Amino acid sequence: MQNGFMLLSFGSLSLVYITMILGVYLSSVHQSLSCSEWPLCPNGFLKPPEQRYVVEYFHRIFVIFTAGAIYATSIFAYAKVKTMKRLTLLATIVVSIQILIGALVVTKKLDIMIVTAHLPIGVALFGITLLVFLRYRKDYLTSVNNGTSGNLD
Ligand code: HEM
Repeated sequence: MQNGFMLLSFGSLSLVYITMILGVYLSSVHQSLSCSEWPLCPNGFLKPPEQRYVVEYFHRIFVIFTAGAIYATSIFAYAKVKTMKRLTLLATIVVSIQILIGALVVTKKLDIMIVTAHLPIGVALFGITLLVFLRYRKDYLTSVNNGTSGNLD
């Protein structure tokens, strides 16, 4: 059970990281407005993306997986890992805000204030998911050493 939470929190952390790299790449190759539609690119979810918006397509698809993993981590925490309830709730709030800001980045056509907010909120989200993983890992290792690992649930 505890390793399940550790795996899920590490998955969220990794997905946030990949989404951020895709976002920075998206900005660097000047494809930021290549999908003017919202919430998905013109090809939708399952059809292969066209070359001109391939990076933006993957940025959006990874957002879906990232948000799903973060929400699942929080539901897991509320059901089984009481000590991580508040921090995982914070992650769900921040990822939801980031998705709204992401929508505005596109619909407001790269408004400078909104684009400027998108990067630090992404960094904050990375920090929070890192904290969830590291704090839980520390609690877990301490409880294993003390022989009280059942108390983490
Ligand atoms: C988990 C949620 C998200 C994270 C962690 C994230 C992260 C990032 C990061 C780090 C950047 C690079 C910013 C820069 O270089 O200044 C970026 C760029 C971008 N993101 Fe996201 N993003 C998320 C959600 C979204 C959503 C939902 C959209 C909406 C379609 C979106 C659209 C964009 C666009 C268009 C850019 C390029 C902006 C530019 O030209 O600087 N993002 N994202």
